[in-house]
Amino acid sequence: MKDLLATVKSNKKIAENIYMITLVLPEDAGKMHGGQFVNLSTGNGANLLRRPLGVCIVEGDEVSVCYQVKGRGTQYLSTVEAGRKLRVLLPLGNWFDLDGYSDIAVIGGGVGVFPLIATIREYYKSKNFYSYIGFRNEDAVCLWNELNKSKKLTITTDDGSFGEKGNAVSAYLADRNNIRADVIISCGPPVMLKILKQKLKEEGIKTPCFVSLEERMGCGMGACLVCACKSASGENLRVCRDGPVFDINEVQL
Ligand SMILES: Cc1cc2nc3c(=O)[nH]c(=O)nc-3n(C[C@H](O)[C@H](O)[C@H](O)COP(=O)(O)OP(=O)(O)OC[C@H]3O[C@@H](n4cnc5c(N)ncnc54)[C@H](O)[C@@H]3O)c2cc1C
Ligand code: FES
Repeated sequence: MKDLLATVKSNKKIAENIYMITLVLPEDAGKMHGGQFVNLSTGNGANLLRRPLGVCIVEGDEVSVCYQVKGRGTQYLSTVEAGRKLRVLLPLGNWFDLDGYSDIAVIGGGVGVFPLIATIREYYKSKNFYSYIGFRNEDAVCLWNELNKSKKLTITTDDGSFGEKGNAVSAYLADRNNIRADVIISCGPPVMLKILKQKLKEEGIKTPCFVSLEERMGCGMGACLVCACKSASGENLRVCRDGPVFDINEVQL
């Protein structure tokens, strides 16, 4: 993990309310994997806490993360121009480790799609991805060319304005007998992960499933406990340090 002063190469709107910021790192920060995240300064001194964002695209000394404008921090970040320098702590957390798996079902929703894209990019040359990705509507659909590195891609939208009408979990369940997945990976809103866990149980699906959680964070490196979540047995876990990727059966959702 390194705390670096990166240079903003670009900061572009890629969908409704979604931006991609590309940072040029001043030195090698080591290999970065899908599921890991960066803790990025927003460039505004008043917003002291950095914001956690999933690694999305890594190319040489450049790392791109995508963010939805939600509150003050991401609002300010969206105004940062190329050439600015921002502090970034990276890479943080664990990742979707797909060694030993060959066929992967990917279930993503909303901004949860970005760490999944990093994972698809990392492994698509040697493994088969069957991706079920849900967006709110057509205006929110982004990085389709990256998602399309999957062997099979189903996009859903809540209102049917792009792809199938529905959600990513239902799309996976409807198609699951047509694919041969030996693992499921997922990231998305808490309600989506909760429904996924329920459905896997109800349908008796025993395929291993790993989910990446998004909790509010402080330090991003295990010291402040702001990001606590509960293990299945009720113990406190730190999403930043013990995760953000967990076996779906080992966490309370
Ligand atoms: C490991 C990890 C990876 C993430 N990756 C991405 C990503 O790739 N793209 C992306 O758009 N977002 C991602 N997030 C969520 C992102 O960190 C928050 O949306 C962001 O910090 C909000 O900052 P803000 O200043 O705009 O909002 P604030 O003003 O701090 O909050 C605005 C609203 O967002 C909610 N919020 C704040 N932090 C989080 C959080 N961590 N998770 C969920 N809701 C939050 C608040 O409860 C509030 O309702 C990730 C979060 C984690 C923990
Ligand atoms: S954010 Fe501080 S312990 Fe996780």
